[in-house]
Amino acid sequence: MKFEHQIWQKKTLGRLLHEAEGDNRLKRVLGPVGLTSLGVGAIIGTGIFVLIGKAAHDQAGPAVMLSFVVAGLACAFAGLCYAEFASMAPVAGSAYTYAYATLGELFAWIIGWDLVLEYAVSSSAVAVGWSKYFNELLKLITRGAIKIPEFLNNAPLDYDPDKGRIVLTGAWIDLPAMLITAVITTILVIGIKESAKFNNIMVIIKLVVVLFVIAVGAFYIDTANWVPFAPFGYSGISFFGETIMGQTDAGGKPLGMLSASAIIFFAYIGFDSVSTHAEEAKNPKRDVPVAIVASLLICTFLYIAVAAVLTGMIPYKDIKINAPVSDAFAQKGIWWAEFVIAFGALTGITSVLLVTMLSQPRVLLAMARDGLLPDSFFGAIHEKYRTPYKSTILTGCFVALLSGFLPLRILSELVSIGTLMAFVIVCVAVLIMRQTNPDAERPFRAPLYPFVPLAGIGICGLLMFSLPSENWLRLIVWLGLGFMIYFVYGRHHSHMAKEHDGTRITE
Ligand code: ALA
Repeated sequence: MKFEHQIWQKKTLGRLLHEAEGDNRLKRVLGPVGLTSLGVGAIIGTGIFVLIGKAAHDQAGPAVMLSFVVAGLACAFAGLCYAEFASMAPVAGSAYTYAYATLGELFAWIIGWDLVLEYAVSSSAVAVGWSKYFNELLKLITRGAIKIPEFLNNAPLDYDPDKGRIVLTGAWIDLPAMLITAVITTILVIGIKESAKFNNIMVIIKLVVVLFVIAVGAFYIDTANWVPFAPFGYSGISFFGETIMGQTDAGGKPLGMLSASAIIFFAYIGFDSVSTHAEEAKNPKRDVPVAIVASLLICTFLYIAVAAVLTGMIPYKDIKINAPVSDAFAQKGIWWAEFVIAFGALTGITSVLLVTMLSQPRVLLAMARDGLLPDSFFGAIHEKYRTPYKSTILTGCFVALLSGFLPLRILSELVSIGTLMAFVIVCVAVLIMRQTNPDAERPFRAPLYPFVPLAGIGICGLLMFSLPSENWLRLIVWLGLGFMIYFVYGRHHSHMAKEHDGTRITE
């Protein structure tokens, strides 16, 4: 097959559905509540427990409530597009599969590779956050008697923007981050049903703690703390690192409500992981869209409420960067709440880690089934547990390595830009699919077409440009690496291309 034809070849909808009916499939065990729980499990974590502090203190003040609205809107538009696709083609693979059906093989590969940023790299970022909270909780429980030494609780490498290169921090390794990754990997190899049960318990604990923050914190709100509401203004838009609207900090980075949205966006990442479990859903056409929309709605409501409580309890200038929520209660003298919240945060972050690490092997599995990655490895399903065990273990090793050696800042920024790109592509894919397959069965349709996909592209694009410019460079390097793998391996092993050339019989 000619190369220029191969990169544009698309999977038909019929083929996607046919593939979902094969033998070597995952077990269908998840109902709407289980799927929504997976969504909420993947969403509420480091963003609301940690990043809210920096966004409120440095970039938005009380207007961080609106930052959550803007980031939530971006996700809602993208989420509705995900939901439409998930109902049409309920197979594992998420945005990767949707791109294969609409934009062709090369775009599908790019998206699949990009999703590694969203899942594996974000798991590493989350594991680093877990390690910090673990240390915090250990200190609280033992009243400071036991503390993990700094050199075993920090990344040995960091990027120095002034020097423009990687520097050594003096630390050896982030040991707790690596250990939790190993534990989660083991749980995931054993199976989805067991993992889902474990996840449900953790999701309940973290929801109770978030509701506790809102209910107890509400009694301590002083509305005077909401004035001024937007001390850094309402904008903060930059273009490839150049501020084009709003205030800037001493280093020239944009400040304001919108710039905080780009940071806070990380808090919403994860809802789309519901779509990677379409193959394990009992009734995917109905339940996957419901779970995507439900988990987003629940989290948006909770986030805005937490932001209102936090900025109402103490002046935004007093909000701490590292453990902002528990610290606000400590500042109000409610010491026991500090422990409860630190425990809830640790539990919440653990469930995020569980779901994101669960999603990654499923995307790799979908790519392997198409021949773009070695099927014998990434497509291998464990005989007894019915899980993609080999790629789960590989993902675990990758996540452990990154989380053990790189800092949270570098990891989380990379994740946001990669995820926003995936969202833009899913919105574009919905526009294309409505034109190319107008009569296909769509159990769920994104409403207000074409407004929803176009608005998704607009807001996600805006947030991409509001991230620090070095992230674009990292994204380009990452995608360049992906292209190399495609040209060296994928394009020669693609099942679609082989079938076209008659060298492979369709199953
Ligand atoms: N949304 C996830 C979190 O905040 C990634 O931890």
